[in-house]
Amino acid sequence: MEKLFKDLKKEIYKLWEKNLDLSNFTKLPKDLIYNNLQSNYIESAKKLKTWKSNFAKTENIHDIIRRLTPYINWKQTYDEKDVGKSFLEKYGYFELFGPTGYFLTKKMSLYVIFFDTDNFYTWHNHEADELYFVLSGSAKFESVGDKSEILTPMKTRLHKSFQPHSLTTYNEKCLSLVIWRDKLESSIQVVKIK
Ligand SMILES: [Fe+2]
Repeated sequence: MEKLFKDLKKEIYKLWEKNLDLSNFTKLPKDLIYNNLQSNYIESAKKLKTWKSNFAKTENIHDIIRRLTPYINWKQTYDEKDVGKSFLEKYGYFELFGPTGYFLTKKMSLYVIFFDTDNFYTWHNHEADELYFVLSGSAKFESVGDKSEILTPMKTRLHKSFQPHSLTTYNEKCLSLVIWRDKLESSIQVVKIK
């Protein structure tokens, strides 16, 4: 699988070169070291395995991730008591670049996150600034102090340090990149929003 992970890295570098939202948010380090992780194929990720992209500009990346799906070290992090069982049945993420990812770096983190249809990622925040980049499908992004917005492929959304945010999917799934440029050890808190 190492080859496919390296192909994915290559495609992400290409995307960065062409996209100012991404490259202005943070640079990609040049010295990433491949790190083999154990597969953890969770139930929710099986929906991604069978999902073909229909968006040309991000299709390559989507397809590599889809093919890698059974071999990926999927994570969920949250406890059921904080986010609910139905959320965990429709969500998963993995760390591609970062201190504990498939490519090791201490300079930034890049996660890939997947949501099935009709899901609600509850309000939360963290110290790290965060940029979402939608690869496929769509989702509604809400954050305190900003207008809510439906994001489609190639669209980005910035969450500032400690700014509470949430995400909702409706009749489409959503596959996104999530980038942190600093405070990589930040913990994520679930927050109550009136
Ligand atoms: Fe976040």
